[in-house]
Amino acid sequence: MTDMNPSHNDDMNLYAPHQWRHSTVVAGVPWKNPVGTASGTFQYAAVRYFYDVSQLGAVSTKGVSPVPWEGNPGVRTAESPAGTVNAVGLQNPGVDTYLVDELPKLKAAGATVVTNVAGHSDDEYAEVVAKLADCDADMLEINVSCPNVSAGGISVGTDPVALSRLITRLRKLTDKPMIVKLTPNVTDITLIARAAVESGADALSMINTLLGMRIDINTGEPIIEHVTGGLSGPAVFPVGLACVWRVRSVLPDVPIIGIGGIDSGEKALEYLYAGANAVEVGGAALLDPTAPIRVARELELLLDERPDLAHTLAKGGTWR
Ligand SMILES: Cc1cc2nc3c(=O)[nH]c(=O)nc-3n(C[C@H](O)[C@H](O)[C@H](O)COP(=O)(O)O)c2cc1C
Repeated sequence: MTDMNPSHNDDMNLYAPHQWRHSTVVAGVPWKNPVGTASGTFQYAAVRYFYDVSQLGAVSTKGVSPVPWEGNPGVRTAESPAGTVNAVGLQNPGVDTYLVDELPKLKAAGATVVTNVAGHSDDEYAEVVAKLADCDADMLEINVSCPNVSAGGISVGTDPVALSRLITRLRKLTDKPMIVKLTPNVTDITLIARAAVESGADALSMINTLLGMRIDINTGEPIIEHVTGGLSGPAVFPVGLACVWRVRSVLPDVPIIGIGGIDSGEKALEYLYAGANAVEVGGAALLDPTAPIRVARELELLLDERPDLAHTLAKGGTWR
């Protein structure tokens, strides 16, 4: 397929050491550039062969839970127009293994680490955050999209009261910068964003995946065994952008990380113009492992031409 994107530079050597020209700051944490990886789409063991992870703004790890989770059985992903539906089920080796395995490797490699936290109840989130309180991670990112028994089985990120209770509790357990990662599967994301910030979130990231499904017309049955899953990829890009814009409109000062459908420097730039301090690249890395570092380099060229925006981001400010 011909790449029509003018900023994709065929001569760009993604493996070479690079002196970044445009940094950003998220909740007081310096990022070398405004581009990180999105949780669940980055694995150090695989990515280390493709690029130097210390070159990224930050890496957000797979969600870690109190004990190892095997994830969902059967078929977990289905292709969709301009996206993928997944119901991996937060498979991960658990926080104890993460602390002695992936985290030390990422820090030894020089990465700025955002540890993504998962739980099926408030107690589970609290257990993980307590174990991470004194670790080497630079930031925590609380994934509040998981079904939560303390919130009656729904995702805690869809209920401002349940979310406030959870974030108030987690805030007491750690001084680390705490990002709350919002779900777009709500009527008014600004209510949820406010609840998170008023209960102690230092920053917000958005969006997690949108509820979706596919059906096999030969059987009449859902393709994914879990029936529904989360839609990611280019299809969700305008949704994520609108969420960032709306939240920035009501919360002018909170640091925001924009996520959803980013696969080019241009799309990252749209998020920065919507009011984000930084972005995370997700599903694009499943197609091309180098996507996050390529997006960072493309964005750098675009920021060269926008010194006002670059200067604002470097001071921890945002376009709007
Ligand atoms: C396979 C897969 C696994 C994911 N796992 C997590 C996770 O563990 N924690 C989390 O907060 N988000 C997870 N996500 C959501 C992504 O981090 C991101 O928010 C979402 O995919 C939208 O971005 P994208 O369109 O760039 O992929 C996952 C997404 C995918 C595709």
